[in-house]
Amino acid sequence: MQWDVTLLEFVDSTNSYAKSLAIEGAKEGTVIIAETQKNGRGRLGRVWDSADGKGIWMSLILRPSISPQSMLIITQAASVAIINALTETVGVNAFIKWPNDIMISNKKLCGILTEMSAEADLVNYVILGVGINIYHSKEDFSDGIKDKAISLQMYQDMNKDDIIKSKMFKPIERDQLISSILMNIEDQYKKVIEGKSEEILTDWKRHSLMLDKRITFEKDNCYITGVVQGISNNGGLIVVCDSGIRHEVIYGEITLQG
Ligand code: BTN
Repeated sequence: MQWDVTLLEFVDSTNSYAKSLAIEGAKEGTVIIAETQKNGRGRLGRVWDSADGKGIWMSLILRPSISPQSMLIITQAASVAIINALTETVGVNAFIKWPNDIMISNKKLCGILTEMSAEADLVNYVILGVGINIYHSKEDFSDGIKDKAISLQMYQDMNKDDIIKSKMFKPIERDQLISSILMNIEDQYKKVIEGKSEEILTDWKRHSLMLDKRITFEKDNCYITGVVQGISNNGGLIVVCDSGIRHEVIYGEITLQG
């Protein structure tokens, strides 16, 4: 894959910008990175805090020949790629909270917003949006997420002694992390195209925070609690609730218990 990277000072949302380019026919491998986003978007219509120069705000255009139904694997492939890149370049072990939040110290470091345009059997384009908090201090996050979010800098500052002792310390180089993410996405994306989803899912499960955990999710306006027993082929969570009923959770928000 030939990545074609455009760096912007300021943009509404890199996902929205990449989408307009994709509609005009921009090729697969187009990457938009911005220093600041005025209207960074998160999953489920949420706002994504994108403080000036503090993170990686980036969107990739992909045009995979896969069915729209197998789209979740792209997000899972990206999660694995980002985790590998974080280990390689910063020496951080990160985990996945379903469906695609990347966590360290049980706080959110990175979010992925995958959007697509598709017809019945054909994907026109996919916009893979990645937001990673890098240089924030706690005060840089807005009040609603202050206690739930973390940046790489905060993690290193909080754990400096342990990280140095474990010889895992590596200074944070944003550009190096971006290159590593793009290289790792390329590797994982190749597996998607070659139909090697099993390999991706094996790695994804290895880094998942969810297996065997008690979680609560919402279904038809009711909250249901159960234990995560596995991941379905669609990438959904298989949850067995206390009454023994088995659910597949493929959309929405979950809460980890205890
Ligand atoms: C989430 O809700 O966890 C997903 C957040 C995704 C944020 C990134 S930042 C770059 C790209 N552009 C956006 O507007 N959103 C994504």
